[in-house]
Amino acid sequence: MSYQTGVGQLTAVVTGAASPRGIGYATAEKYAREGWAVAILDINAEGVEDAVAKLQADYDVPVVGAVVNVTDRDSVLASVDVIAESGLPPVGALANVAGIASPVPFLEVDLDLWHKVIDVNLTGTFLMSQAYLPQMISNGYGRIVNMSSVSAQQGGGVFSKTPYSAAKAGILGLTRSLAREMAEHGITVNAVSPGVVDTDIRAGATDEENEARLAAAVPLRRQATPQDIAALFVWLSSEDAGYITGGTHNINGGAYIA
Ligand SMILES: NC(=O)c1ccc[n+]([C@@H]2O[C@H](COP(=O)([O-])OP(=O)(O)OC[C@H]3O[C@@H](n4cnc5c(N)ncnc54)[C@H](O)[C@@H]3O)[C@@H](O)[C@H]2O)c1
Repeated sequence: MSYQTGVGQLTAVVTGAASPRGIGYATAEKYAREGWAVAILDINAEGVEDAVAKLQADYDVPVVGAVVNVTDRDSVLASVDVIAESGLPPVGALANVAGIASPVPFLEVDLDLWHKVIDVNLTGTFLMSQAYLPQMISNGYGRIVNMSSVSAQQGGGVFSKTPYSAAKAGILGLTRSLAREMAEHGITVNAVSPGVVDTDIRAGATDEENEARLAAAVPLRRQATPQDIAALFVWLSSEDAGYITGGTHNINGGAYIA
C-alpha cells in the first residue's frame, strides 16, 4: 500500500528516529504503515542502521537512512542529497522530532549546556525546515510537524528544566511564524506538544515511584505511548489535515487543558 496525495507518493523525513523505544521511530513506523516512503535521520549511526533494517523488514515502502547532526548545517544539507540520490519519492512531510532534555537546575546551567539544549531542539528545527522547504514548495505539497512539549507551556518537570522549556517554547514561535510565511504555498506547519511519554529520554532522572506518580497525575491515568504521539504527527501530515496550520496540538491525557 502506498499513501497517494494529489502529487503522488511522497517521502516523510523523520529526525530523531533511531531510538527504538522513542517517538521518532514510532513516527517513522506509522508513516510506513500508512504507505509513505520514509527517511530515518539521526545522529546515532548504529541506531539508523537498525531502524532502517527493521522498517524494511516489516513494511513494503521505500526506506532510507542518513546519519545527521541536526545542529550542523552541512550535515543537514548532506541528508537532502542522500534522499534525493536514493530514488525515494519527493519529500512531502518533515517531522522534526530530534531533541534532548536536561534535568540540571537553573543556577547550575552553564553556557555550553544552554547552547546544546537550544541547538538540538530549536536550531535543529530551523535548519531542517530551511533545508527541506524548497522542494516542498516546488513539489506543491508540504507538511512540517515540530516537536514541542508541555514544558513549553507550563514549565519544566523532573527531566526537563529551563533550557528545555525555553527551546520548546521557541519551537512554538517558530511554528506560528513559519506557518504564516508558508501558507501562500499551501504548506502547513504545526507543533505537537506532548505531556509525559514513556521513552528513554528521561533515563536516570526518575525512579519507579516517580513514574507511578507521573501516571497518576494524568486524568487518563497513564503516560502516553510513543505510538499515541506518532499518530498525531502522521495525521497532521495527511491531505485531510490541509486546513490546519500554526497550531499547538496538545496531547497529554488531559494533564494540561488549555
Ligand atoms: N518522552 C517525553 O516525555 C517527551 C515529552 C514531550 C516531548 N518530547 C520530545 O520528543 C522528542 C523525542 O524524544 P524521545 O522521548 O523519543 O527521546 P529519545 O531520547 O528516545 O529520542 C531522541 C532522539 O533524538 C536523537 N538526537 C539527539 N540529538 C540529535 C542530533 N543532534 N541530531 C540528530 N538526532 C539527534 C537521539 O539520538 C534519539 O534517537 C524530543 O524532541 C523530546 O524533547 C518527549
